[in-house]
Amino acid sequence: MVAETDPPPVHRLVYPLFVTEEISGAVEIGSMPGQYRHSIPSLVREVREAFDLGLRAVILFGLPKTKDDEGTAALDPDGIVPRAIRAIRAEVPEMFVITDVCVDEYTTHGHCGRVRDGHVQNDETLTILAQMARVHARAGADMVAPSDMMDGRVGAIRRALDDAGYDQTPILSYAAKYASCFYAPFRDAAQSAPQFGDRKSYQMDPANRREAHREVALDRVEGADMVMVKPALPYLDVIAAVKGRFDLPVAAYQVSGEYAMIRAAGRLGWIDEAQAIDESLLSIRRAGADLILTYFAKEVARRFRLSSGT
Ligand code: PBG
Repeated sequence: MVAETDPPPVHRLVYPLFVTEEISGAVEIGSMPGQYRHSIPSLVREVREAFDLGLRAVILFGLPKTKDDEGTAALDPDGIVPRAIRAIRAEVPEMFVITDVCVDEYTTHGHCGRVRDGHVQNDETLTILAQMARVHARAGADMVAPSDMMDGRVGAIRRALDDAGYDQTPILSYAAKYASCFYAPFRDAAQSAPQFGDRKSYQMDPANRREAHREVALDRVEGADMVMVKPALPYLDVIAAVKGRFDLPVAAYQVSGEYAMIRAAGRLGWIDEAQAIDESLLSIRRAGADLILTYFAKEVARRFRLSSGT
């Protein structure tokens, strides 16, 4: 009766999924036990199960067969993500499909933009991202989520979508994305660790909270429909600050390293895993997140289903 916050209901959870060019099957990700690199058939099965458990949104990360310096595979209309979207559309049409828009999974150097003379070229990257978002929208994505952190990309993507007739496709901007060590397992999964340097020239300094206001404000005027704070648990103050200051829906991403920590400690018997999952999600919700991207989405939904007896 007096609880100020309820645990996030399943419709507020977004389930991140990795899809590869493999023909069939799924391969477990070493640093993310319980998460897989899916082939398209296995992805579709996973999405179907997730839907049947009550989940209503997924976010897709594509892992192409070949990478190059420019991340060309990211713009292929028959690339891995467009094909995955079409397959989900055909089999589980009700699922809301979000796509991650960023080239790091597609480039040999692993950076989130075009690299020249050892530097990521912000403005040259914008046209690539805009084109990538358009390819996803054309394949049937319900929403695009740029995670690259280039300045000006929300505006560039909004214009490109509008010009191509996708003015109804919303943008979830990774607005306050920190240069965090908690992405390591994801980079392992996507083989996207930067081959030189780091991402500190485009991702945010973990020491800064006020800078998040500036990042969100810019994305907002450029046309973001929702904004994200990432990672989640180490940045609850940022989630709360963004929620208090802006009237857009706020998403929080409980990232791969947060998942790996809870999983590992749970497996070692050092904490109660289910309780740790629930407490972390409740805390992220308490901080103000409207949506939570979490690799635990499916198991939380399953547990919820079991406990409610439906
Ligand atoms: C970039 C991207 C990353 C994540 C989501 N999108 C990795 C990075 O910035 O290095 C990380 C997600 C996670 O750790 O779960 N395309």
